[in-house]
Amino acid sequence: MLKVLAIDPDPEVQTAIHAILAAEKVEMASAADAESGLQVVHEFRPQVVLLAQRVPGASWVEVLETILARDPATAVIVIALYYSTEAAVEAIQKGAYDYLPKPLDPEKLRGRIGALIAEAEERHKVFELDCALVGAYQYEGIIGRSPAILQVFAKIRRVAPHFQTVLITGETGVGKELVARALHRVSPVAAGPLVVCNCSALVETLLESELFGHVRGAFTGAVTDKVGVFEYANGGTVFLDEIGELPFPAQSKLLRVLQNQEVQRVGSPVTHTANVRVIAATNRNLRGLVAEKQFRQDLFYRLSMIELELPSLAERREDMPLLQRYFVRKFAAQYEKEITGLTRRAQLLLSQYPWPGNVRELENVIGNACMMVKGGVIDVGDLPESVRSAASLPGAGDPGLVTLEQLNQRHLLYVLDRVGGNKARAAEILGVSRATVYEMLSRMKTMTAAGIAVAAGQTS
Ligand SMILES: Nc1ncnc2c1ncn2[C@@H]1O[C@H](COP(=O)(O)OP(=O)(O)OP(=O)(O)O)[C@@H](O)[C@H]1O
Ligand SMILES: [Mg+2]
Repeated sequence: MLKVLAIDPDPEVQTAIHAILAAEKVEMASAADAESGLQVVHEFRPQVVLLAQRVPGASWVEVLETILARDPATAVIVIALYYSTEAAVEAIQKGAYDYLPKPLDPEKLRGRIGALIAEAEERHKVFELDCALVGAYQYEGIIGRSPAILQVFAKIRRVAPHFQTVLITGETGVGKELVARALHRVSPVAAGPLVVCNCSALVETLLESELFGHVRGAFTGAVTDKVGVFEYANGGTVFLDEIGELPFPAQSKLLRVLQNQEVQRVGSPVTHTANVRVIAATNRNLRGLVAEKQFRQDLFYRLSMIELELPSLAERREDMPLLQRYFVRKFAAQYEKEITGLTRRAQLLLSQYPWPGNVRELENVIGNACMMVKGGVIDVGDLPESVRSAASLPGAGDPGLVTLEQLNQRHLLYVLDRVGGNKARAAEILGVSRATVYEMLSRMKTMTAAGIAVAAGQTS
């Protein structure tokens, strides 16, 4: 059912619209003035609004812009008192879906609504297909279809049955923990425990007792015996996160565990078997740490016999649309909202951003947008300012490494954003003339045709 709202002060027109659309697959609502119309838009969330050109309380342009600001996907059909080419062009330019003159031609109106119903059904189908696609292109909860990630899937499958130790490397937020959990799940010890230990989270002495256990009296405060991670995970897997932070003494002990499958609790000569598989992860360059004598070479060789190097998001941009859909679906369900996707310009913007925080950052950005968005489609305005400004600038790599001109541009966009796109006000705050603001905007447009059009379009 397509939700249609008619905003028109004339009861006769309302009756006519209801009659024309009576047999269509629509759910109707009506309002007689701008204020109540916008209220209904907010509560009823229509996909289509029939907007009279004369409505009490505001100009039709204001009403149109408010509706589109809430949900750019709304199809607004402006109903004019009489046909005028200028007004029709203006309406379309302002984002209206169509422009129909009074008296309403029933066939035309039914035709437009029919097309919109077909479009909505098509979108729904595409959405379902997309969902199926997300299902198809994932492995153990890891989403992706790029050659780089497919290689990772293949390696997990090959390695999982056999490994004793695996080293997972990659930048922050690329999914190292996700892959570690997948490795355990598809390994023969999946029924055994997976015990996670973050090597950077504890001070040195506590870390050793956490990993290897201790006996009563081993150190002040050791009032009882304690089983360590390795003993606890016997018959399963230990995931050592941030292995690069493991202090030197603990590194030797770990090496002994890996070589002999035995652990010694701190303060005890007795050895216990620790039949465990070890997955270690790091976002640091372990080779570099070895060269700096921060990490034991022998341990490094032992750990890196099998290395799984995860690609950064920038190295697998092909996966962006799939990941976006996946996260939109996830957060829409979480916030119990009907969100079907992102506008094209929002997608464009995301595709230009460098993603230093990788998939985690994308997940956060989409999560936030889903929380903020009012309508069913995420637009540029729902994305954080940091993404909007960094993505739209040329040479966007490290967001901090920019030229002064780029910094100026970014600041201009920031100020424009804060003053709701008011260029005169922005010029005042920036202490430059309005002409300068226009000049900067137009230069940005020509520099990165697509990118800046997005950012400037947002604020103009
Ligand atoms: N391919 C993927 N598909 C779906 N979600 C992913 C993918 N990669 C990462 N994520 C999600 O991104 C977030 C970060 O992933 P994870 O914690 O595994 O990263 P990490 O490499 O361990 O990062 P760090 O080095 O900062 O610890 C998690 O919420 C994870 O579910
Ligand atoms: Mg991690």
